[in-house]
Amino acid sequence: MTAVHEATAAATTTIAPHGGTLVNRFADETEAARLKSRAASLPVIELDARQISDIELIATGAASPLQGFLTRSDYTSVVHDLRLANGLPWSIPITLAVSEEKSKELKLDGEVALVSPAGTLVAVLTVRDIFTYDREVEAANVYGTTEQAHPGVAALYSQPNILIGGEITVLDLPKHDDFPEYYLSPAQTRAIFAERGWRTVVGFQTRNPVHRAHEYLQKVALEMVDGLLLHPLVGQTKGDDIPADVRMRCYRVLLDNYYPLDRTLLAVNPAAMRYAGPREAIFHALIRKNYGCTHFIVGRDHAGVGNYYGTYDAQQIFNRFTAEEIGIVPLKFEHTFWCSKCGSMASTKSCPHGAEDRIILSGTKVREMLRAGEIPPVEFTRPEVASVLIEAMKNG
Ligand code: ADX
Repeated sequence: MTAVHEATAAATTTIAPHGGTLVNRFADETEAARLKSRAASLPVIELDARQISDIELIATGAASPLQGFLTRSDYTSVVHDLRLANGLPWSIPITLAVSEEKSKELKLDGEVALVSPAGTLVAVLTVRDIFTYDREVEAANVYGTTEQAHPGVAALYSQPNILIGGEITVLDLPKHDDFPEYYLSPAQTRAIFAERGWRTVVGFQTRNPVHRAHEYLQKVALEMVDGLLLHPLVGQTKGDDIPADVRMRCYRVLLDNYYPLDRTLLAVNPAAMRYAGPREAIFHALIRKNYGCTHFIVGRDHAGVGNYYGTYDAQQIFNRFTAEEIGIVPLKFEHTFWCSKCGSMASTKSCPHGAEDRIILSGTKVREMLRAGEIPPVEFTRPEVASVLIEAMKNG
């Protein structure tokens, strides 16, 4: 590439991060030394897995423009209006809850040490707000239900009842033992996109093992853009979801055999799953915008669970914002399936045949087959992927 080409690629491959600037909340060396020496005298909050994921998103800029956990005005505005207090779209409250007892140790504008369950200092938060909140209101607005059976609501209800907001400075994130090479920061994915000359990039969120419908959506999108960021979510998921390391193995066998590697990048999204359906679709899209994607796939019942959301609610919620406000373009896909008459993947948008010609298997049915060591129909899942899943189920 000539210098002129390089400059053009760098200028055109990247979409601006949400809010305009890619946040970086890692301490520089001087700040780290200062914070480490002060930490011993600070009140301590022990983080859980989800809070550690949130800190990683904030520190790396994946959650730009957030600089820390939501303060009261941002929290209220996000819960009620899907916007930060400054009007910028934001759909999921990123909060830090503490017990009343713990909150009494904290002072406004004071610092607090955030430590991992292993006791290592992860970050220091400057306390800007200490406030109570109504979990039922948050549940009803964010999850659309107050039922404890919803995993996101259950997680919310198990939180203590005080929130603290304020910016964080991160010293040391716990190491990722599994597939560390796939943890690319937004700055890194953006650099890779620029280096590869991708001007348009579609992001794909997923928490399930890759199947033919996923592959179809990804490849249809890839016909229209320069690159594909396969971005499985690997933060906390509910107990019966397939573990992230197994899902990553599925992706490896698929990529090696069926994807154009020069147009595909596999990396992971460290976020925890909320199962907030439409609200989470906006969150997922904004995160991928921060990673440098210009487009984002939203299929049927995106980030849904059970029957809490309508099949296309997660697509319709984008209509509440202008295209400029969201920035990243949602690519909305109908429910897709294998049609035996067409002999290909299709949806009711592209296929005239009836339901009797479709191969659609429920997740439960597929799990049953895999547990019994049976390979599901090739029209549903690639045999290479099925083998990885069968092996994992035998060992798990
Ligand atoms: S999610 O919780 O991450 O949304 P999943 O991994 O199942 O769950 O889905 C990843 C993406 O593929 C989502 O955008 C979802 O809407 C889409 N998707 C999954 N299966 C289908 C399908 N059969 N037809 C259309 N879109 C689908």
